[in-house]
Amino acid sequence: MASLLFIIFLSAIITTEAQQGESIVNLGSSLTPTSKSSWQSQSGVYAFGFYQQGNGYAVGVFFAGIPEKTVVWTFNRDEPPALASVTLNFTSDGRLIMQSAQGEETAIANPPERAASASMLDSGNFVLYNSDKKIVWQSFDYPTNTLLQGQRLTDGKELFSSASESDQSTGIFRLKMQTDGNLVQYPVQTTDTSQYAYWSSWTDGKGSNVSLCLDDDGHLYLLNSTGTNIKNLTENGYPTKDVVYFVRIDADGIFRLFSHNLDKKGNFSVLWPSSYNKCAPKGLCGLNGFCTLNDQVANCLCLPGFVSVNPGNWSSGCVRNFTAESCKSKDESTKYIMQALPNTVWESSDYSYLILLTKDDCAAACLKDCSCEAASYRDKYCYKQRLPLRFGRRDLSDANIAFIKVAISSSTTNKIEPLGRERYSRKDIMILGISFGAFGLIMSVISAIAVYKNRVQAYRRLSNGGSVDLSMDVSLRSFTYSDLEKMTNGFKEELEEAILEEWAYSCFEARELDKLVSDKDVDKKQLERIFKVGLWCILDEPSLRPSMKKVLLMLEGTVDIPIPPSPTSFLSTI
Ligand SMILES: *[C@@H]1O[C@H](CO)[C@@H](O)[C@H](O)[C@H]1NC(C)=O
Ligand SMILES: *[C@@H]1O[C@H](CO)[C@@H](O)[C@H](O)[C@H]1NC(C)=O
Ligand SMILES: *[C@@H]1O[C@H](CO)[C@@H](O)[C@H](O)[C@H]1NC(C)=O
Ligand SMILES: *[C@@H]1O[C@H](CO)[C@@H](O)[C@H](O)[C@H]1NC(C)=O
Ligand SMILES: *[C@@H]1O[C@H](CO)[C@@H](O)[C@H](O)[C@H]1NC(C)=O
Ligand SMILES: *[C@@H]1O[C@H](CO)[C@@H](O)[C@H](O)[C@H]1NC(C)=O
Ligand SMILES: *[C@@H]1O[C@H](CO)[C@@H](O)[C@H](O)[C@H]1NC(C)=O
Repeated sequence: MASLLFIIFLSAIITTEAQQGESIVNLGSSLTPTSKSSWQSQSGVYAFGFYQQGNGYAVGVFFAGIPEKTVVWTFNRDEPPALASVTLNFTSDGRLIMQSAQGEETAIANPPERAASASMLDSGNFVLYNSDKKIVWQSFDYPTNTLLQGQRLTDGKELFSSASESDQSTGIFRLKMQTDGNLVQYPVQTTDTSQYAYWSSWTDGKGSNVSLCLDDDGHLYLLNSTGTNIKNLTENGYPTKDVVYFVRIDADGIFRLFSHNLDKKGNFSVLWPSSYNKCAPKGLCGLNGFCTLNDQVANCLCLPGFVSVNPGNWSSGCVRNFTAESCKSKDESTKYIMQALPNTVWESSDYSYLILLTKDDCAAACLKDCSCEAASYRDKYCYKQRLPLRFGRRDLSDANIAFIKVAISSSTTNKIEPLGRERYSRKDIMILGISFGAFGLIMSVISAIAVYKNRVQAYRRLSNGGSVDLSMDVSLRSFTYSDLEKMTNGFKEELEEAILEEWAYSCFEARELDKLVSDKDVDKKQLERIFKVGLWCILDEPSLRPSMKKVLLMLEGTVDIPIPPSPTSFLSTI
């Protein structure tokens, strides 16, 4: 019994000592990517050393012991990854170097004094000490995209996002602690001027030498040079036990506070984002692209008549896939139209503006001006612009309507090409529609139009008593195959779908929805609601269609349904 107590007592002493100690790296130590690859902090939370990057290895600081490596600092992030044969030496003369198999050396740190030892601290800071145990170099002074607890972003310093979650090289967004006291987010390669900013702490003029600080309890704030807190970005008081916090400007341009729960390895939660709008970061979509939100997920689309330069890489932007109109040599054989993009905005760089009464006048003015490539119309102001268009995004709260000049070739109409995948198919809409009882029937008919737009076959199956019986209790006057055939001259040309949609829309505009159903007992309000949802759902451009969640809320009446745009909202010239 006594000996057992003694053992418990002894182990208590040992643990206390271990917690207070630190893992010192001595001169002459080395690391390689394939054998001993890192030095861990005493707590085991952080490690300094090699991590896999692409086909090779990079040197940095990362969370240890979780399979999906979360890198918080990288040495020379824009250099190509090193080969597996590289070694990292803490040489006997105090230099921290990477050495290739051929003997080529790269210094990782250049301290002003000779280093005598090194340590991976529990804070995530990798430090070099001189012989007096004074820090002569620390990774905290060279932040990349992340700030850890106790680390500061000082006056004039910046964080740069990574290219992607798995590629730590410099990406396309930055966060700058400006000398005017303001903390601001910009795209890379812009000047520090407000026209490029997409987020700021609104603290300009609140003092020079302001720094961004993160405390152990997740408190993120700005301090002025005399140590006064001038702005809280997050509140203090998050738990400190078994949780670490860090802030990072992510590859998508949003600056976020994360917590990492050490109990549940690998659990990261976002506690605060600089913006909830994933389209806010300027430049996410590259030139001539624009950002749209679908269920809070950002997606980039090309302007009509444009195609992605490098599909899968949004920031590479979009280029025209037709020969542009030239003012010098007028090619009379090519016709142009103005294609409308409602609620879409971009950087204002107009070369002239007009005051015009209608949006159609604006489109027409651009159309007949051979130097005009795009126009935007808002509150009677018509801005004529040339390409490229930057920082484009769809903002449903913005009444701005954009027009893009597009050449019409004889064979193709220009559809907006998605850079990513579509979020849901028309089949989803149809399935949903069916589950809404009697009103659902109307919904499914509208969906059927959508399906029909692509495949007349699919429509035929539906209306001819396949799995869905449309003639159950609301019989629909004009949606039989033969009616459609009559209306569209036997489905000749592309006009068919436009006519059907336009007719439906005109009934809606003229408040004659009852024309669409023969059952006169239908609740008008409900019918209108369902109809509006239907019109939103069949829009050509996926990004304009509401999400399934929205559709449910709209049908329930929980949210208001905006007036849908006309399905044929482009202006033809001829
Ligand atoms: C670096 O480390 C390797 C492996 O421990 C060793 O062979 C090499 O001589 C070291 N280089 C220097 C400059 O210390
Ligand atoms: C820091 O802020 C406090 C409170 O606003 C102010 O009194 C102080 O003068 C500021 N210090 C500097 C150097 O601006
Ligand atoms: C700026 O502030 C930091 C800490 O807030 C301080 O260490 C540093 O000396 C200050 N620099 C100047 C030039 O005031
Ligand atoms: C920031 O939060 C702290 C703690 O809640 C509070 O004491 C301080 O006054 C706040 N500062 C500002 C500028 O609101
Ligand atoms: C991660 O942690 C948060 C709280 O820190 C918790 O709400 C969440 O359920 C955890 N997730 C997982 C997958 O454990
Ligand atoms: C994406 O395109 C940009 C601009 O063309 C280029 O700088 C970047 O390296 C590309 N990114 C990837 C992951 O290919
Ligand atoms: C433009 O793009 C469309 C679809 O991406 C393609 O079918 C068409 O051939 C392209 N036109 C030209 C002139 O490249």
